[in-house]
Amino acid sequence: MSVLQVDRPLPGRVTPTFAPQQPHIAERSPPNTARIDAIKPIPRDPSAVVPQISARQLGKEFISRGSRVTALSDVTLDIYQGQFCCIVGPSGCGKSTLLRIIAGLETHTSGELELAHFDRSKPLHSMVFQEQSVFPWMTVEKNVEYGLRMRGVPRAERNEVVSHYIDKVGLTAFRQAYPHQLSGGMKQRVSIARAFANDPEILLMDEPFAALDEQNKAILQEELLRIWEESRKTVLFITHSIDEALVLSDRALVMTSRPGTLKADIEVTLARPRGAYEVRASEGYGALSARLWAELREEVLGSRQTKETIA
Ligand SMILES: Nc1ncnc2c1ncn2[C@@H]1O[C@H](COP(=O)(O)OP(=O)(O)O)[C@@H](O)[C@H]1O
Ligand SMILES: [Mg+2]
Repeated sequence: MSVLQVDRPLPGRVTPTFAPQQPHIAERSPPNTARIDAIKPIPRDPSAVVPQISARQLGKEFISRGSRVTALSDVTLDIYQGQFCCIVGPSGCGKSTLLRIIAGLETHTSGELELAHFDRSKPLHSMVFQEQSVFPWMTVEKNVEYGLRMRGVPRAERNEVVSHYIDKVGLTAFRQAYPHQLSGGMKQRVSIARAFANDPEILLMDEPFAALDEQNKAILQEELLRIWEESRKTVLFITHSIDEALVLSDRALVMTSRPGTLKADIEVTLARPRGAYEVRASEGYGALSARLWAELREEVLGSRQTKETIA
C-alpha cells in the first residue's frame, strides 16, 4: 500500500492538470493519523467518469485492550460526484468507522482508499456528526461562517454565503443566538448550514438526525434535500433507518454486521423532489423498503447474536 504525501506528488506520478473535471490528489485534513492511498490514475479519456470516493478491499482493525476488533473488512465501493448515497447497517457494524476513515479522522489498516478532489479552490469534505458539534461559545452566524473564515474568504462574500444558508435552514431570527439558546434540532441545523457554507465537494454525515424527534427529523430531511437539490454535492450519509435512506438517497448501500462489509447496493429510483412523508406514498416505496429490510434483517439478527454471545 502506498501512502500519499499531501503536499507533493508521489514519485513517478503526474498530478493531473489538463482538465478541470479531472481529479487532483486527494487531500488530507488532520495530518497525523489520516492516510489516503495513492492518487487517481489519470484516465486516458479526459471525459472518463472518475469516482469521487473509491475504496478497494478497505479494512480496519482496532487493537483494544490487547485484543483485535475487526470493524471493517473488504469494503469495495465507488461513489460518483453528485450522488446522494446512504449507508444503512446495524449498530456497531462499522458505519462510523468507514465515514471517519473517509474523513481522514481514522486510518484504515488494509486496502486502498482514493478520493478525487476536482476543484481545489474548495475544501474536499465537511462532516456533520450525530452529536451536536457546534462551538458553544460562538453565535449561529460565527459557527456557520467558521470554515469560510479559516479559508480567508473576504467578509462580504462570507456574509452573503452565511445569510443564504442561515435562511435555508430557517434560523435567520436566531442569527445572533448562542447554541445554549437553541433546541437540539436547531443546533443540527447550524451544523448543516456550516457544512454547506463551507462548500466542500463531499458531505459526510454520520446519523445527523438520529437524536431528533420524528417531526423535526422530517423537517430537517426536507431542508437537507432542498439544499442538496441546488448544490448536488456528493453526499455520504450514514443511517440505521431504512425510511431515512429511502427519503434521501439515490443509492442505499447495506452493510453486514461486524466486521462490516457491503452486501447490497440498491438504486433508489423514487421521484424527486421528495417530501419526508409523501415519499412513503410514492410508487415503489413499499417494494424498496421491503427489499432493504430483507437485506438488513439478517444482519440485525446477526449483530444481536454477537452481542448476546459476548454478554
Ligand atoms: N477507537 C476504537 N477502538 C476500539 N474499537 C472501536 C473503536 N471505534 C470503534 N470500535 C469498534 O468498531 C466497531 C464498529 O464501530 P462503529 O464504526 O462506531 O459502528 P457503527 O457506527 O456502525 O455503530 C464496534 O465494535 C466498535 O466497538
Ligand atoms: Mg456510528
